[in-house]
Amino acid sequence: MTSCFQLLAGVLAVTFTVALANRHPINDFCVADKKSPVLVDGFVCKDPKLVEDNDFFSSGLHIPGNTSNQLGSKATPANILQIPGLNTLGISLVRIDYAPYGVNAPHTHRATEIFTVLKGILEVGFVSSNPGNRLYTKVLRKGDVFVFPIGTIHYQRNLWRRPAVAMAALNSQDPGVTSIENALFKAKPNFPSEMLATAFQTDNNVITNIQSKF
Ligand SMILES: *[C@@H]1O[C@H](CO)[C@@H](O)[C@H](O)[C@H]1NC(C)=O
Repeated sequence: MTSCFQLLAGVLAVTFTVALANRHPINDFCVADKKSPVLVDGFVCKDPKLVEDNDFFSSGLHIPGNTSNQLGSKATPANILQIPGLNTLGISLVRIDYAPYGVNAPHTHRATEIFTVLKGILEVGFVSSNPGNRLYTKVLRKGDVFVFPIGTIHYQRNLWRRPAVAMAALNSQDPGVTSIENALFKAKPNFPSEMLATAFQTDNNVITNIQSKF
């Protein structure tokens, strides 16, 4: 029983340490040790004596992403996967490129996003939760800023016949992305098509047709 209790206490200690580190860091940094076999929420800290300048660095955000895809947009991140020094700091950056009339389809993250246009004209929007489901939307030009609150489903759309570029910061070291169309139609195993047909007030074959495209 004692060992069981100690194990639980240890697990709680690690959990609390990581959770607290995310809000009020107890060190200047906790650079991710990606080789550690210990799994925590985030990464364990690399020995501070081994921390290097490059742990806080990444490059290439000036390079346009390849937008030759179904949606006509491409996100290029600078998050914990590129910058180990972001571990526990709860922040990251992303560049988004848009082909002419390209879209960054409705999606959500585990982070609030503050978004600015560097080039082009983008329509952006997010929708509030039930039961209001109000769509808050703006047309943004170079230098304009818009906020997508954490948890809301949001999108961007290039309204112009030239490429557009945006940059955004998110308050997560690894904000992730859940695309609505992927979540609903590409899930493995599939969501039951009859359930989606009921939800979307359509026929089962409409749903299975969409699922087959993913
Ligand atoms: C962009 O992506 C498309 C589709 O995957 C590919 O065919 C093309 O070679 C890529 N272009 C560049 C410049 O990488």
